[in-house]
Amino acid sequence: MKVQLVFILLSCANSIFTEFQFDLKSISTVIVSENETVTLRCDITGNEEVAWYHLNSTYMLKLLISAQKTRMVKSLPVYYNVDKSRFILRPDSEINTAEFTINNINGDNLGLYFCGTTAKPAQMHFNNATRLKFKGKSEGTTPDE
Ligand SMILES: *[C@@H]1O[C@H](CO)[C@@H](O)[C@H](O)[C@H]1NC(C)=O
Ligand SMILES: *[C@@H]1O[C@H](CO)[C@@H](O)[C@H](O)[C@H]1NC(C)=O
Ligand SMILES: *[C@@H]1O[C@H](CO)[C@@H](O)[C@H](O)[C@H]1NC(C)=O
Repeated sequence: MKVQLVFILLSCANSIFTEFQFDLKSISTVIVSENETVTLRCDITGNEEVAWYHLNSTYMLKLLISAQKTRMVKSLPVYYNVDKSRFILRPDSEINTAEFTINNINGDNLGLYFCGTTAKPAQMHFNNATRLKFKGKSEGTTPDE
């Protein structure tokens, strides 16, 4: 089964039109429980910026957190975070993986997560989605099988 979604991402100065196609088999599912902590990983080798997006049950794609590598020292400072009390983004020691942690998961956090990386500005590429799901329950967030 193939699903095609078209997202329009608005950035401050210009609008980026991203056409997006994925195979549902490429989505990995992570079963979580209420109030749990989960960490999602994104390969950022060779990239400068990383951002995590969430597609909620009303098809709104929302930027959650983003960060950019520094050139001099090995670090990945976060420069945007919609929920500083629960969202953490940190790199592995080699700055090749961005680890996105969500604390105290609630029902609003279920759904599809995408990490995007950029090597150059205005060139965002998305990896395969990850679905967060409560055990046994269908959470109503589509695309669903
Ligand atoms: C996405 O999933 C497909 C199918 O499982 C796989 O072939 C591909 O390598 C994955 N892409 C990334 C960036 O992980
Ligand atoms: C999750 O935390 C909230 C607030 O502390 C609490 O009311 C609720 O019972 C907790 N749920 C579970 C399944 O532990
Ligand atoms: C989905 O996200 C949008 C934008 O953040 C928000 O306005 C809307 O209420 C959300 N829908 C649900 C069901 O949470």
